[in-house]
Amino acid sequence: MVLIAGASSKPGQRLIPMLIQKGYRVRALTRHPNNLDFARSLGAKIFEGDLRQPETLLRACDGVEAVVSTVTAIGDNLLQEVDQAGNHSLMEAAQRSGVSHFVFVSIYGAAQNHPVDLFRIKHKVEEYIQSSRITYTILRPAAFMETWCARIGELVVSGKRVTVWGNGKNPISFIAAEDVARFIVIALEDSRLSNKTLAIGGPQNLTLDEVVDLYERMMRRKSIRRYVSTAQLRLMSRFYSMFDEAKSRFFEMSYELAASNWRVDMSETLRQYPVNLTCLQDVATSTIK
Ligand SMILES: NC(=O)c1ccc[n+]([C@@H]2O[C@H](COP(=O)([O-])OP(=O)(O)OC[C@H]3O[C@@H](n4cnc5c(N)ncnc54)[C@H](OP(=O)(O)O)[C@@H]3O)[C@@H](O)[C@H]2O)c1
Repeated sequence: MVLIAGASSKPGQRLIPMLIQKGYRVRALTRHPNNLDFARSLGAKIFEGDLRQPETLLRACDGVEAVVSTVTAIGDNLLQEVDQAGNHSLMEAAQRSGVSHFVFVSIYGAAQNHPVDLFRIKHKVEEYIQSSRITYTILRPAAFMETWCARIGELVVSGKRVTVWGNGKNPISFIAAEDVARFIVIALEDSRLSNKTLAIGGPQNLTLDEVVDLYERMMRRKSIRRYVSTAQLRLMSRFYSMFDEAKSRFFEMSYELAASNWRVDMSETLRQYPVNLTCLQDVATSTIK
């Protein structure tokens, strides 16, 4: 039995059918069981739980061989409570229940001194997992196509002005959530990934301008682009930090996408684990549909 915490996340939703098709029994943890009807219909067992309630997690891990965590509460602005303390509690419950493998979805660039709290928290959880007795795999994906590219795509599709962060020229190895799910399956099955941390990215290094270009070509329409400089992004982040933490973090993340290194060299990883990575065009086609 595999417990997926974050079953309704972008990779979680894609992981459920993959595991069920391979014959795994799946327990899908969620705070909103009604949102997982598709998983129930595939045969997954739905478990109502919350990473902020450690007492629910021992039951969630009961009889489980592997736990996958793709949880984040960045949308609820509860990173300390959920991404950090919640993942700690889940790890502890997994250890106490005799779970043999813990797969944690972190983020590319997670580091102790990172300017963005999400990346620092991911690093803290990574350290905690690495110092535990459990066999682990940590995946560090680059930015998801379904989060960041789709955001741009929706603006192009609806004919609205497109905001581009920075000068639009920073290459990013955007990855499809489907491919993150594929690497989770590999982590569960291939012992070469036991006690390993693996950075994963998509097949292309695309700049934000190239992402807009792609959606424009697909829609056969030009959009108006507004460039927000990295200096402006920094200023907005500082301004909002005084009264709106979530908005401040959003501008910090936008700054990161505009200015940091997001190029993941996948050549060695693909030699070892030959995954046919999904192109943005395929993800964009389904978004536009
Ligand atoms: N999006 C990106 O660009 C990106 C890039 C790199 C890494 N990541 C990482 O990839 C993972 C998935 O990201 P995503 O963008 O797909 O996330 P998402 O769509 O926002 O989903 C978040 C998940 O966290 C669960 N969750 C939130 N609060 C919870 C709580 N208190 N207790 C239990 N579950 C809770 C939600 O479950 P319910 O609502 O069903 O309870 C949901 O399944 C995250 O760990 C994220 O940090 C994302």
